[in-house]
Amino acid sequence: MPEPSLHPLLSSRWSPLRFDERHTLDADHVTVLLEAARWAPSAGNSQPWAFVVGRRGDRVHERLVTFLFPSSRRWAPTAALLVANLSHRLVESTDWEFSEFAHYDLGQAVAHLTLQAQALGLGVRQFRAFDREGLAAEFGVPPHWEVTSMAAIGRVHPDDTPPGEDASPRQRLSVEELLWTPLDRSGSFGGPEETPA
Ligand SMILES: Cc1cc2nc3c(=O)[nH]c(=O)nc-3n(C[C@H](O)[C@H](O)[C@H](O)COP(=O)(O)O)c2cc1C
Repeated sequence: MPEPSLHPLLSSRWSPLRFDERHTLDADHVTVLLEAARWAPSAGNSQPWAFVVGRRGDRVHERLVTFLFPSSRRWAPTAALLVANLSHRLVESTDWEFSEFAHYDLGQAVAHLTLQAQALGLGVRQFRAFDREGLAAEFGVPPHWEVTSMAAIGRVHPDDTPPGEDASPRQRLSVEELLWTPLDRSGSFGGPEETPA
């Protein structure tokens, strides 16, 4: 059996801050990205997600750009694609049974889209730095939907520096830090561990 290792699609992914401003995406590529999101799992198959998609040069893209905060306006508009990610809200008066998982499910859908983009040689940066309420009003998003996040997608600029190759090394918690109880031991959540027999 070969040594288990992280799949290259995962190990090579990072969130770019520079996109190739000459790159455009054709409709087939956009469709396959959305297909990837569409096939994500969701609680009860509720699929509590929706997307506002703008390709650079079209009117939707122009409208999305106007809601970017200054920090994202510096880099996001050059991406070939801007996507606003919407999730179904938990609203008492709705009968949407699985809304409690909507953020969770949307995150999975965007993760699928991100890896599909990576497989196509594209980079994705998800971001929150935009006017959520303004964007919702502009696109007529009803109260039982929330504009949760955005994603900029496109060919990474050749001069963009992958994290870890510049002055600020990439940081992650270790696997041990993710575990409430060490592997191969039993124990309660955050509580004392039992030594295996
Ligand atoms: C929900 C979400 C919101 C984010 N918001 C921003 C943002 O507003 N601005 C930004 O530059 N990056 C944003 N990011 C990107 C993260 O900073 C980035 O994913 C994180 O630093 C890890 O880096 P990596 O994706 O290159 O591994 C966001 C990512 C996620 C998933």
